[in-house]
Amino acid sequence: MNDTLVQGAYIVAGLLFILALSGLSKHETARMGNRYGIVGMAIALIVTVVAAVAGTSLDGEPASEGSGLPGLALIVPAVAVAAVIGIALARRVEMTGMPELIAMLHSFVGLAAVLVGWNSSYENNVAYPTVHDVEVFVGVLIGAVTLTGSIIAYLKLSAKIKSARLVLPAHNELNLAIVAALFVMTVIYCLTSRDAEFARQLELGGMTLMALFLGWHLVMSIGGGDMPVVVSMLNSYSGWAAAAAGFLLSNDLLIITGALVGSSGAYLSYIMCMAMNRSFLSVIAGGFGVEAGSTAVEGDYGEHREITVDDAARLLADASSVVITPGYGMATAQAQHAVAELTKNLRAKGVDVRFGIHPVAGRLPGHMNVLLAEAKVPYDIVQEMDEINDDFANTDVVLVIGANDTVNPAAIDQPGSPIAGMPVLQVWEAKDVIAFKRSMATGYAGVQNPLFFKANTQMLFGDAKRRVEDILKAL
Ligand code: TAP
Repeated sequence: MNDTLVQGAYIVAGLLFILALSGLSKHETARMGNRYGIVGMAIALIVTVVAAVAGTSLDGEPASEGSGLPGLALIVPAVAVAAVIGIALARRVEMTGMPELIAMLHSFVGLAAVLVGWNSSYENNVAYPTVHDVEVFVGVLIGAVTLTGSIIAYLKLSAKIKSARLVLPAHNELNLAIVAALFVMTVIYCLTSRDAEFARQLELGGMTLMALFLGWHLVMSIGGGDMPVVVSMLNSYSGWAAAAAGFLLSNDLLIITGALVGSSGAYLSYIMCMAMNRSFLSVIAGGFGVEAGSTAVEGDYGEHREITVDDAARLLADASSVVITPGYGMATAQAQHAVAELTKNLRAKGVDVRFGIHPVAGRLPGHMNVLLAEAKVPYDIVQEMDEINDDFANTDVVLVIGANDTVNPAAIDQPGSPIAGMPVLQVWEAKDVIAFKRSMATGYAGVQNPLFFKANTQMLFGDAKRRVEDILKAL
């Protein structure tokens, strides 16, 4: 295949990825954005495989050994097996399990970057050896950090290990020492003669182990409430790992795609940190500068009150304004369709119904927006936390559907709480609050929620979907 044709197809795929990102930034254009992404990825995959089979070199050098038909015999079965596993996993995974799946997929990108880096370290015929050595080191470093960081994120998100922060003694100094050591090792590696192959492998091996430890330590040091930022941060790392692999493989599209993923993931992490009032630098540096000591403040909040389905329906029928604040429980209960039906019913009765969405409600960015869009809730009544927070004081009834941490006043009035400083939906300002959940259990951050004991809050226990359907019947 002609090299110009390959590069042309890569430019088209790169443009489609940019259009995909821009489409995904708005509800209305998200589906289109997704399609652009799918077409771009299909072009990228087909062209790369065909070019490999045709023996086209992507860096202007003579085609390498693995190209041609023998290459096809390796690539096609590998892609087929991976596609079968990918399709099976994606079909099986629940929406609530997406962050775990994404974390797992990021670990594969990290592993790929480590393998590409190690493979490239054996190349001797390179034009600029020092530049090549730095590329190898950076590629393996980012890949290894992404690999172990993503595995820990997967284990934490799927509750296979505790999500609380692990704080080793002098953890900040330890991170700084590792970063300094990695820098020194890069210099030593570049200065080691290419003839001293064993010494170079030892240096690269030592660095790989250190980077694997750094990835483990960075994510272990981040606590439950900040995990959303970690997922998008690892997304960013996986992008940079792919870009580094792109440099080593001289593949322009991999560099472009990696940079797009890396920078958009970094920007998303930044926006999430702003929304959660967390320091961006502190989170990406594994809780750097944050000392251990934030502990759950358990207080005696008194007795909670319960409400019956009939009373809840009466309260809603008499209301003129209702705000619904969904959380992770709406996703696990798959209550979004029933909630959309309830919204339709109340609006038909002339009630002003809106949704208040917290930026980290659920388990992945935009989780609630996706569910509400799926249930065809009109976009114009779905508002962000900042848009709606001042309106709760003028709201008759708030329905808290399976949300907990995102409506917890402890974030504001308990400085010792693990979620202290995180902005929350101030639902308690409303006249009445009905909280839908199955028990008095805590939310993701593991802290009790004083909202459930306030005088204007009543609990409606049970599965959120069933309770909403019961209210619909009663209405
Ligand atoms: P959470 O604090 O996780 O609370 C969800 C509540 O839903 C639980 O208290 C649970 O109480 C209830 N629930 C579960 N299943 C239910 C069902 N079938 N019916 C009714 N209720 C049900 O939710 P949130 O307010 O959305 O906060 C999200 C949390 O996850 C934050 O701490 C955030 O930092 C973290 N997190 C977010 C993300 C992203 S990116 N969004 C990623 C990782 C972590 P019961 O067990 O009593 O029913």
